[in-house]
Amino acid sequence: MVERLPDEGKIWYNGTFVDWKDAKVHVLSHGLHYGSGVFEGIRCYATEKGSFIFRLKEHVDRMYHSARLYKMDIPYSEEDLKEAIKETIRINGLDACYIRPIAFYGYHHLGVNPTGCPVDVAIAVWRWGTYLGEEALESGIRCTFSSWRRIDPKTLPVTAKAVGHYLNSLLAVLDAKEKGFDEAIMLDSDGYVAEGPGENIFAVKNATLYTPEAESSILPGITRASVIELARESGYEVVEKPLTKEELLTADEVFFTGTAAEVSPIREIDGVRIGKGKRGEVTSVIQRKFFDVVNARDERYMRWLEPVYE
Ligand SMILES: Cc1ncc(COP(=O)(O)O)c(C=O)c1O
Repeated sequence: MVERLPDEGKIWYNGTFVDWKDAKVHVLSHGLHYGSGVFEGIRCYATEKGSFIFRLKEHVDRMYHSARLYKMDIPYSEEDLKEAIKETIRINGLDACYIRPIAFYGYHHLGVNPTGCPVDVAIAVWRWGTYLGEEALESGIRCTFSSWRRIDPKTLPVTAKAVGHYLNSLLAVLDAKEKGFDEAIMLDSDGYVAEGPGENIFAVKNATLYTPEAESSILPGITRASVIELARESGYEVVEKPLTKEELLTADEVFFTGTAAEVSPIREIDGVRIGKGKRGEVTSVIQRKFFDVVNARDERYMRWLEPVYE
């Protein structure tokens, strides 16, 4: 399930393309010591109409939003970064890939205050399959409530997709794997459901969708926003509200959303079977719609797709 990174290709690094093996940082880079970086995870899909990046603008917007929250000045415009992302895919000759842009404080001095450190920017792209496994998209995964709570907005700006925040996710993932589960579900500091370590979560009850609201310490996912829109357009009611553990355990269906996880059903949480213990009806509808959209089969949502090779 865990795919090793490739060892060849070109990486965009501070405005130029370098060989994969040469895209290195100094061990005394600020970002390595203090987690001072922001990044994105984006997908490019190979479709019958060509290669398209899903919601590129929204991802790049979020990266600059994350940087702003950490007072980090990315030395490129959003337009330049979007162009660089497309060029990186083209130069690597890929039709479908995962895209990882990152901006971090680089090598200059060491000390928590980053003022004076350069902001280094890199973009890597590589072929990538399904994150939780092909079978997960069909049969669903087994999750556990993590004993680690999701980071709290009183401590860190949770809407930033920042490097250091992922220590929280790392603990939750390790916890889940050690207990024999596929993935963790984290609660917020008030005990309400927040999200997975790299996914947002939805529950379905009587054909209404429920998802934790922004106040539940979530990263506002771009897949989450897309699924809310697709579900409403399909005639489902979607309610954003604080969700309890009990509501999740007694839901008819539960699923994760995310760039990596796409739309992944959850069939069990801590030994409790969710609904029928397999992908539910509403999840199937949402999943089908989502894959139609990302695969350029729905004309109405071509506005979410950025062509790579024009
Ligand atoms: C903590 C966390 N929550 C949610 C998500 C889902 O966000 P998106 O749908 O934008 O990928 C991600 C992935 O980026 C994440 O890392």
